[in-house]
Amino acid sequence: MDMRFEPAHGLSGKIDAPADKSISHRAALLGAIASEPVRIERYLQAADTTSTLMAVQALGALVEVNGEAVVIRGTGLREAREPDGPIDVGNAGTLMRLLPGWLAAQDGRTFTLDGDESIRRRPVDRIVAPLSQMGAVLSAREGRFAPLQVRGEHLRAISFELDVASAQVKSCILLAGLAADGATTVGEPWRSRDHTERMLLGAGVAVHRNGRHVTVVNADELLLEPIRIPGDPSSAAFLIAAGVLVPGSRLLIGDVGVNWTRTGFLRILRRMQGIVLGDLEDETGELIAAEPVSDLDVAHGALEGTVVEAEEVPLAIDELPLVALLGCFAEGETIVHGAQELRVKESDRIAGVVEGLRGLGADIEATDDGFAVRGGGGLRGGTIDSLGDHRLAMMGAVAGLASREGVEVLGIEAAAVSYPSFVEDLAGLCS
Ligand code: S3P
Repeated sequence: MDMRFEPAHGLSGKIDAPADKSISHRAALLGAIASEPVRIERYLQAADTTSTLMAVQALGALVEVNGEAVVIRGTGLREAREPDGPIDVGNAGTLMRLLPGWLAAQDGRTFTLDGDESIRRRPVDRIVAPLSQMGAVLSAREGRFAPLQVRGEHLRAISFELDVASAQVKSCILLAGLAADGATTVGEPWRSRDHTERMLLGAGVAVHRNGRHVTVVNADELLLEPIRIPGDPSSAAFLIAAGVLVPGSRLLIGDVGVNWTRTGFLRILRRMQGIVLGDLEDETGELIAAEPVSDLDVAHGALEGTVVEAEEVPLAIDELPLVALLGCFAEGETIVHGAQELRVKESDRIAGVVEGLRGLGADIEATDDGFAVRGGGGLRGGTIDSLGDHRLAMMGAVAGLASREGVEVLGIEAAAVSYPSFVEDLAGLCS
C-alpha cells in the first residue's frame, strides 16, 4: 500500500512509545525456556513478535494472549518439542538468530527455521560458526542462508570473539551457553544492546560483563518474575525525528526505554544540537537487571552535522537511517562510519537510505561502510520505496512531514513489523 505524507505544521501532544520489539522477543523466548509460567505485560503486538509467540508454541510452550498481556508456560531449558514442520520466523531477524541458541541444546532433536524473502537473503553463518563449535550440527542453504537446520546436541562451553558487534549473535551464544557444560564467554569489538544479559540476570542466571566480554554460566532453570516491556526507543526515534525536524513541534513521548545500550541515537541527536530532554541511563559499569524508562520532551530546533564513529554504530544501529534524514536538515556534513552491517538488515539500508533520500532531493552519497550527507537544504519531497523494510517506510513518512512538497511512501504497510499504529500516531500528533 502506498501513502502520501504532506508537509506538517508542527507536531504536538503526548504519546506513549509502542512496546519494545527486542525486549518482547527476548521475554517470549526466555518465557518458553523457563519452567514456571511467566506473565509479560505490554507485549508488542506486531508482526515480528507474533512470529516469536507462534514459534514458541510450535516448540511446546503454551501461550495465552489477553489484550496486551501474554502468559507463557514454558517447556523448560532442555525440553523443547520437535515441531511437525519448519518454524516460520516471518520477517524477524532477531527470532532467526536467537532461537537457534536454545534449539542447539535440545539433544537429539532437529529443527528447521525459515522465513520470508527478506529473511532468506540475510546471512545466518555468524550463528552457525559458534553453535557448531559448541557441538550442535547446523546446515544452511549455501552455508549461510535460511532455511537453517539445527540438530541439538549436548553442548560444550566456548569463548568466542565476534568480528562484528551484534546483539543478536551475542544473545544466541548466551542462550546456548545456558545449557552448555561450564562458562561461555562472548567478546564483541564494541558494546551492543544488552537486553538478553539483563533479563538472564533477572532470571537468576550467573551472567556477568567485563568490558566488552559477557560470560554466562550454565543453569538448571530460569526463574522469571513478571516482565513489563518498556517503550521501544527505536520506534520512538521516528516520532522524535519528526518533532525535531518539523518547525513548531513540541512533543512528549512517554515510557521510552532508556537503557544506555539503546540511546546512542539520542546522544548523536544531542550532539547535533537537537532538543530532547529526558532522564537517560548513564553507561553502566556493572550489569544490572532493570530496564529504565523515561518520558522524553522533544522540540523543533536547528541542527548541526556530526560524525558517527564505528563504536557508536551498534548503539544506534536501527536509527542510522534517521541520522541520514536529520543530516539533510543539519548545517554542514553528517558522516556515518563503520556501519557495513546496514547492508544485511531487512534491506540493504545503505543503498535504500541513499537512493531513497536522493530521490527526495538530498545531497547524500554511500561509502563502503556508511554514508555522507551534505545538509542544510532540507528535502524537496517526491516518492520513496520502503523496499519492504519497516525502518525505511517510517523514515519516508517522517521525511514527508518535514519536506517542502510531501512524500509518497511505496509499501508503508512494512511499518507494521515493529510499529503497527505508526501512521495513526503520526496523524494524531499532526492534528
Ligand atoms: C537486535 C539487534 C540488532 C538490531 C535488530 C534487533 C536485537 O541487530 O539491528 O533490529 O534485538 O538483538 P544486530 O545485533 O544483528 O546488529
